[in-house]
Amino acid sequence: LNLVLPEHLGDALMGSFGIAFDIDGVILRGTNPIGNSPNALKRLYNHSGSLRIPYLFLTNGGGIPESRRASDLSKLLGVNIDPVQVVQGHSPFKNLLKRFENELIVATGKGEPAVVMSEYGFKKVISLDEYESYFNSIDPLSPYKTWTTKQPFHEQRSSSESVPEFDVTSERVKAAFVVSDPVDWSRDIQVLCDILRSGGLPGEKSEHQPDMYFAADDLEYQAVFPSERLGMGAFRIALQSIFNSIHHKPLEYTSFGKPNPFVFKNAESVLKQLQLMTSDCDVTEVHKDATSHHFETLYMIGDNPSVDIKGAKQAGHPWFSILTRTGVFRGKENHTVYPADQVVDTVEEAVEYILRREG
Ligand code: G3P
Ligand code: MG
Repeated sequence: LNLVLPEHLGDALMGSFGIAFDIDGVILRGTNPIGNSPNALKRLYNHSGSLRIPYLFLTNGGGIPESRRASDLSKLLGVNIDPVQVVQGHSPFKNLLKRFENELIVATGKGEPAVVMSEYGFKKVISLDEYESYFNSIDPLSPYKTWTTKQPFHEQRSSSESVPEFDVTSERVKAAFVVSDPVDWSRDIQVLCDILRSGGLPGEKSEHQPDMYFAADDLEYQAVFPSERLGMGAFRIALQSIFNSIHHKPLEYTSFGKPNPFVFKNAESVLKQLQLMTSDCDVTEVHKDATSHHFETLYMIGDNPSVDIKGAKQAGHPWFSILTRTGVFRGKENHTVYPADQVVDTVEEAVEYILRREG
């Protein structure tokens, strides 16, 4: 997007604000809206249903493409959410396209990790589920895994692609991506260790470790169960600890997601684009420059002090952090290690606070 904003509008937008909402523990628990989130979001639209205040979802979760997440959230929350407004933990993986576009890569996690990566443009991506099937007995426990639950999402290649065009059993995997929370930890740890220790081809030997990427590093997060659940950071610790115990060189990896400062920088630039889509911004010219606009305040509403609040604090101006009590954090007062700029009970209260503060 390359927009050039007329000067007078650039001035009019000074002093404006935007909002980033965490999802798990703020907007939803599982698929249940919490803290009156549908009402809170409704206030960010005008009567005709068009966007009044720029906002986005900034979640460390994921597992399905942003377009599908946007339509699922629209249904659950009763407002019209654009895919641009959904930034998931794995969204920055698309920045690695140049490096791995035509290389063999594996993707794992709940949902449709390979579909997510294919939609970003990666041409030779295979899910760990499918990768496993090319290596006989690679998971000695698989015969004992008798679960037959119906998966909410099941990855399916179209019939023309049912057999990958690349040779999975002789080509080295260049990178492994944990796209969303892994489902079968024992299988994933086993097969990832095989890939990482063998230079990308289980059974082979090589000193070179393929690249290892995690979409986020949350130790715990708030799901439906009353107390926190183990997140991708917990899986990373398990994999790393086992890998480092069986291999002579420690695991090298990169984690994305909040609290990394670049996530907040990216959110700021998406919010600038969204500002131009709001009903109060009457910009109709073809050439507009979203980059020239500066927000006075950007609000991060989150439930996890060491992820959402720490991230907003590290990002600095113009970020202002609001901590809710609907998720990981349940304290009476502020969090002691990562105190937020404001603490409220629910996301609805957070939005009320922002609208009052912005007058
Ligand atoms: O798996 C999701 C979890 O790690 C965090 O999601 O929306 O609280 O950033 P969220
Ligand atoms: Mg959360």
